[in-house]
Amino acid sequence: MALHLGEEAPNFTAETTDGTIDFHDWKSGSWAVFFSHPADYTPVCTTELGKTAALQAEFDARGVKTIAISVDPIEDHRGWAPDIGDVGGTDLNFPIIADPGKRVSELYDMIHPGEGDTSSVRSVFIIDPNNKIRLTLTYPKSVGRNFDEILRVIDALQLTDKAPVATPADWQPGDRVIVSTMVSTDDAKARFGLVEEVKPYLRWTPAPKV
Ligand code: BEZ
Repeated sequence: MALHLGEEAPNFTAETTDGTIDFHDWKSGSWAVFFSHPADYTPVCTTELGKTAALQAEFDARGVKTIAISVDPIEDHRGWAPDIGDVGGTDLNFPIIADPGKRVSELYDMIHPGEGDTSSVRSVFIIDPNNKIRLTLTYPKSVGRNFDEILRVIDALQLTDKAPVATPADWQPGDRVIVSTMVSTDDAKARFGLVEEVKPYLRWTPAPKV
């Protein structure tokens, strides 16, 4: 069954390269990026996990834990891990779940029959500290994901959780933002100072300090 934004991310226990975890206990109070890859010892996946390892300081700075999953067994994850370090330049520094029984992959709807075989597609779940699903992405097996985009979304979610604003197309941290339609222009001026009204429903304000 598909999982929706705002729903609780289902809990599970699973074997990982860092030992057995209870997912909710493992992330306890942190944000998490939970992402699937089709198979170990494959080129696109090696670059994706290498990039995630290289970006670990960026995830840490935002209070985000990362965890990957595939339907390969734990021995394959352990054997493949050095390749991830070789290719990405940083040793594997986050857990990979072994899901040969496909229990967790099916719980998160990560196996799409139209995508060739019974391995997982490239799913991404961004999950907040309250275990709510805040973003889902599904990429085909042939297309590697953009992990800078995942960081950008986390920045936008963390900002829009703290202030009544939304982020426009192609927003980058530090750019101006859009005042929430729930806030009157007078209230926005009182709160943010500068507000530029382009349309009654489109009002810009500089990036708020939160
Ligand atoms: C890859 O990671 O390179 C890959 C895995 C499964 C299908 C296609 C590509």
